[in-house]
Amino acid sequence: MQANATIWQADSLVRAPGAVHCLGGGRFSEAVLGATGSIVQFENVGLRYGTGSETLSDLSFSLREGGFYFLTGPSGAGKTSLLRLLYLAQRPSRGLIRLFGNDVAATPRKLLPPFRRRIGVVFQDFRLVPHLSAFDNVALPLRVSGVPESDLRGTVTEMLDWAGLVHRAAARPATLSGGEQQRVAIARAVIGRPELLIADEPTGNVDPEMATRLMGLFDALNKLGTTVVVATHDLHLIGRVNRAEILRLDRGQISDPTGALRHPPRRREI
Ligand SMILES: Nc1ncnc2c1ncn2[C@@H]1O[C@H](COP(=O)(O)OP(=O)(O)OP(=O)(O)O)[C@@H](O)[C@H]1O
Ligand SMILES: [Mg+2]
Repeated sequence: MQANATIWQADSLVRAPGAVHCLGGGRFSEAVLGATGSIVQFENVGLRYGTGSETLSDLSFSLREGGFYFLTGPSGAGKTSLLRLLYLAQRPSRGLIRLFGNDVAATPRKLLPPFRRRIGVVFQDFRLVPHLSAFDNVALPLRVSGVPESDLRGTVTEMLDWAGLVHRAAARPATLSGGEQQRVAIARAVIGRPELLIADEPTGNVDPEMATRLMGLFDALNKLGTTVVVATHDLHLIGRVNRAEILRLDRGQISDPTGALRHPPRRREI
């Protein structure tokens, strides 16, 4: 883990020398990512729950490092299932998944945590730790990565302030509204500047103004180099990031109406 000297500031993200340690240190070298610059590669991936038919079938695609992807598709299409494969909560029934250049489908379970720490996840059902305050939930990724208490206090407070939650810092999740819980979940997912941010319907419980604000945060993170994958039904949200690429899932099959998978755009200058 390396200190990458990053600090959060309200409404904008800036890099400031010597500010604070963050998760997801070493950025994306070609050696780690492979020659293609892909951060995720799926080859003939299938996922079957139990003995029924496959929920996901023959998924073959790659996501380029630094890309911004929206994952769309009807309810039950398999969006959450695909994201679970991406953040290593689920193993595929078949096929190959490479993440950060590593074959994670074959990696023993006990070796997965270092990969997971490079990924920020906003779960569809939030998954906040119930006995921890909003502050402690947001601080969790920094504590896990060993950031000293004196360094993380200001960063977490700044993040809560940005999310409009400073006055709720001491509240337990059960006493927060759905929208407040969602904002805590997002703050927790992004505070460590992950290399890969995965968000499952991240604005389902917030008003349109907050949704725009949250997308602004994802946008800013992406401009700093984080690869972003957002599952959503919300077409307005998709329109907010005009460089984003769209992946569509339907009955376990993926398509790319914007051609993102077949014709990856040239890498942006960050
Ligand atoms: N743990 C599980 N065990 C068995 N079946 C599951 C499990 N999780 C999901 N499924 C099934 O897989 C299919 C895809 O579900 P998934 O949650 O991935 O869809 P989704 O596209 O995220 O839907 P939504 O838009 O409603 O969130 C559904 O038919 C669902 O019932
Ligand atoms: Mg879902």
